[in-house]
Amino acid sequence: MTVRHFLTLKDLSKEELQTVLERGIELKNMQKSGEIHEPLKNQTLAMIFEKSSTRTRISFETGMTQLGGHALFLSSRDTQLGRGEPLEDSARVISSMVDGIMIRTFEHKIVETMAEYSRVPIINALTDDYHPCQLLADMQTYYEHRGSIAGKTVTWVGDGNNMCQSYINAAELYDFKLRIACPEGYDPNPELVAEHADRVEIFRSTKDAAANADLVVTDVWASMGQEEEQRLREKAFANFQVNAEVMACAKDDALFMHCLPAHRDEEVTADVIDGNQSVVWDEAENRLHAQKALLEFLMAK
Ligand code: CP
Ligand code: NVA
Repeated sequence: MTVRHFLTLKDLSKEELQTVLERGIELKNMQKSGEIHEPLKNQTLAMIFEKSSTRTRISFETGMTQLGGHALFLSSRDTQLGRGEPLEDSARVISSMVDGIMIRTFEHKIVETMAEYSRVPIINALTDDYHPCQLLADMQTYYEHRGSIAGKTVTWVGDGNNMCQSYINAAELYDFKLRIACPEGYDPNPELVAEHADRVEIFRSTKDAAANADLVVTDVWASMGQEEEQRLREKAFANFQVNAEVMACAKDDALFMHCLPAHRDEEVTADVIDGNQSVVWDEAENRLHAQKALLEFLMAK
């Protein structure tokens, strides 16, 4: 059987993504009602972290426990990966012993190389370019609160990097329009934007981008690995904050999401993230349920 990987949302079809979304909701209900469901009994997920994490580690590790399996936390600091063992060799060796590999790293090429040499599914748990697992949770959260996102308008405010680029993929796969507000010099990959020109538009004004939006989403100004650019980015992104004035441009029933961790009064004001339109806590919790559905989809025998 061919091994399926999850490096970007595009590794699953529209139909498969909808199946995973609905299964995430089912698994959530089953877990909340105390039902035991262990399709991954005796299976192990290796979790390689080259960057920090709270939500991703906890959701994958807990998800594997709930599905009857085991998760192995591997930081690059404590494995031979951090001492320069070739990725190809590491992928061959690790995948000869476990049933799935989750990796959070820097260049997207790293997860592609792992996938090329692994005999088990590779799950991208964030690279500099994409964060597809977060989108599974975001799409489930929107669906639970408002129903299908098809035909709706989503506004992305902030950096054009990993989260934004996963939203661009999602625009096609979940069928919504995406209005991106980002400063010049922080645009998403122009080729990716051009591929999706029918549904993705770039704005330099946050309020223009937020007009009539059904969902407003943002992320930190300086991502992991960009800490030394914090000062520079505070200046560049000063007009790209989600605040009450920006939310007032969106529809009255618009939702607000943020993958977290958040910086109140940088990319989002406290009144918005802690306000009535914010669904960030459901969004964070849904990392667990959506990824359980993904793990089951990729790994259940
Ligand atoms: N949103 C997200 O991926 O959070 P962590 O960095 O805490 O895993
Ligand atoms: N863009 C952020 C997302 C964190 C979950 C980062 O890469 O640090």
